[in-house]
Amino acid sequence: MTPPLTDVETPTQATVETAITEHQELDENVPVLSVRGLHKHFVLHNVDGRRVEGLNGIDLDVRAGEHIALAGSSGAGKSTLLKCIYRTYLPSAGTVTLRSPNGPVELTGLADAKLAAIRGREFGYVSQFLRAEPRRGALDIVARAGIARGMDRETAVEAAAVALRRLHLDESLWDVFASVLSGGEKQRVNLAAGTISPPQLLLLDEPVSALDPANREAALALIADLTATGVAVLAVFHDLDAMDRLASRVVVMRSGRIIESGPPDQVLHHLEGVAR
Ligand SMILES: Nc1ncnc2c1ncn2[C@@H]1O[C@H](COP(=O)(O)OP(=O)(O)OP(=O)(O)O)[C@@H](O)[C@H]1O
Ligand SMILES: [Mg+2]
Repeated sequence: MTPPLTDVETPTQATVETAITEHQELDENVPVLSVRGLHKHFVLHNVDGRRVEGLNGIDLDVRAGEHIALAGSSGAGKSTLLKCIYRTYLPSAGTVTLRSPNGPVELTGLADAKLAAIRGREFGYVSQFLRAEPRRGALDIVARAGIARGMDRETAVEAAAVALRRLHLDESLWDVFASVLSGGEKQRVNLAAGTISPPQLLLLDEPVSALDPANREAALALIADLTATGVAVLAVFHDLDAMDRLASRVVVMRSGRIIESGPPDQVLHHLEGVAR
């Protein structure tokens, strides 16, 4: 049985139609995401004021339908790059430009209210952890994510059910509070919520890290379908096999820099032991 959704603001049909029309007007020749000269340093105030360089000048474009896999050893700066793009971290220098129907939007300098209006809707971020209100069920969480991206309630609930079924989340768990689900179950709810009615750009940070092989397969297939429908994906996976299967380009990072970039068959074979 489908549990009722609690009250949320549902966009009017007019808003939905505007969003769809605008989406069709996006310029196919412009990268969805353009990163230039991105730097991020951290000052460790609670240690000795030491400065840690997280990113040391990143230039990167991601186009519609492209899946870029970020590789590199632990501490290379992969998560920091995704967080600077999503503006969880404010970069120290550089620009992050997102394609939009009204022209390019530079995210690092955007006012908080404007950022909040497009974050999630125009570009999404899926980490390995589900961060949801504690007393919500899986179906509710996923459907709400769809509504926030412009779906009407009924369509969102249907799409949420399709996504959860596709990710093999047992139907008996759909109305159980997500906070009590297992790590792998939470991760599938998170992935479903992040990919329902997907935005034009998705940032994925180890989204399948807690999944067993069968569930991992289902999740990777879902992610592959995203790029096939034109979503731009910038992703971190720990295993070379996932990168090999999903990526159109592999970008290797070391010490906050991009040290190599190319198709998976050229880059991955000498990454054994580095990317894991
Ligand atoms: N909030 C923070 N405060 C201080 N240093 C940070 C912070 N976030 C990241 N760093 C540092 O920035 C560097 C890059 O970290 P990051 O998390 O981006 O690495 P990563 O490539 O994602 O590694 P992993 O594969 O282990 O997830 C590391 O040296 C890390 O300690
Ligand atoms: Mg990381």
